[in-house]
Amino acid sequence: MAVWDSRFKKPLDKKALKFSSSIQVDSNLFNEDIDGSKAHVKMLVKQKIIPSREGNTILKALEQIRKEILTGKLKFDWKKEDIHSLIEERLTDKIGECGKMLHTARSRNDQVALDERLYMRKEIFQLQKLIRSFQKVLLKKADMHKDTIIPGYTHLQRAQPIVFAHHLLAYIEMFERDYERLSDCSKRVERSPLGAAAIAGTSLIIDRAFSAKLLYMNSILENSIDAVSDRDVQIELISNCAVMMMHLSRLAEELVLWNSQEFSFAQFDDSFATGSSLMPQKKNPDIAELVRGKVGRVYGSLIGLLTVMKALPLAYNRDMQEDKFHLFEAINTTKDCLSISIDLINHTTFNKKRFEKELNGDFSLATDLVDYLVKKQIPFRKAHQIVGRVVATCIRQNKKLNELPFDTYKKISKKFERDIFNLLTAENSIKNKKSLGSTSFKEVAKQMRKWRKRNILSDN
Ligand code: ARG
Repeated sequence: MAVWDSRFKKPLDKKALKFSSSIQVDSNLFNEDIDGSKAHVKMLVKQKIIPSREGNTILKALEQIRKEILTGKLKFDWKKEDIHSLIEERLTDKIGECGKMLHTARSRNDQVALDERLYMRKEIFQLQKLIRSFQKVLLKKADMHKDTIIPGYTHLQRAQPIVFAHHLLAYIEMFERDYERLSDCSKRVERSPLGAAAIAGTSLIIDRAFSAKLLYMNSILENSIDAVSDRDVQIELISNCAVMMMHLSRLAEELVLWNSQEFSFAQFDDSFATGSSLMPQKKNPDIAELVRGKVGRVYGSLIGLLTVMKALPLAYNRDMQEDKFHLFEAINTTKDCLSISIDLINHTTFNKKRFEKELNGDFSLATDLVDYLVKKQIPFRKAHQIVGRVVATCIRQNKKLNELPFDTYKKISKKFERDIFNLLTAENSIKNKKSLGSTSFKEVAKQMRKWRKRNILSDN
């Protein structure tokens, strides 16, 4: 039996009902649906559209239904079209006629749009909490590695030595922007569509601002057609998740690389690695690989929902029911990946000494030689060429920069003095950096102080 039965000669075909029911997905919204209904009922009572006695009966029954769902007494029956129908039908089963007043001046179109917004608000809060925990663990590791020097890469070729803490702080910055994007998105999420009804509003004297206020929304979506027909904030939130996943995947990829025997820079705790069913020696970075792999789900959700919405005529269309699948998939995957990345970083040891000796005299110090010549008034382009010749000579003679005899340096440029050899250690290269935000120990310490000072990252 459906609520529109009287108009039809036959009930919906079983297969068609199964095909069109969204209950297995939108049952996830039962809390928000009940919260939204309660605010709606309170508004109807205040406006004297329904009597307060009936209103109170509905409110009480809605809370009972919440409990029934939480305790598993009320099951999500696929024969119901969606969570809204299930709750409304259960309400009338429980309290009879009076339950039939709930849907006054409301449609499932504004109802579902509201539920999703309440859900997104809650999830944004969860995502932001996870970001903070993630930043905290990154900062903790950065603090342990403020003296650890690693090669910095561009094109995955050794570029210049950097402090490992600096590298980790880069991720803190990325996730800070992710946090900001979520805050910005929540401004648009917290607008109430309730009272837009199906498309055109209602002839009943409702108070949309009142129900919005009860739900702690910051404003209402004024245009009733827009309120029920867009899913742009869902797309926005999924795209924020997609950016976060992209960030997570870069770190995951680095962890995979660093765990390779070739890099041997990072080591996962045994509890965060897996073995091989065939090769006894293997210790695999599956957790990081899965974070990297799960990005596909979130990008898929983004394209999925953009495609659902493309070219849909106004206003509500049933196609839009598909939005929840993508929204939940993106949010749940991102939360899972953030959460496991926190643990993974916590269970990773980075080898402080790994690159210490190797980087001294390494070609990644070539730029320091260029800066040296620039300080001696040689134009940058020329200095670049001179040092290029130094590197080529080293390669020919199979030597490091600090192994090339001083005479050879002198032959290449008269401007070289013996003090160049002081430059050719990774530590001095780091110390010599002067610019704001650079990898110098001083600047890195400054960045760490900045993050520590922001009480958002403090432990309490
Ligand atoms: N289950 C529907 C959805 O998620 C609820 C809205 C249904 N509205 C309608 N007019 N059929 O989109």
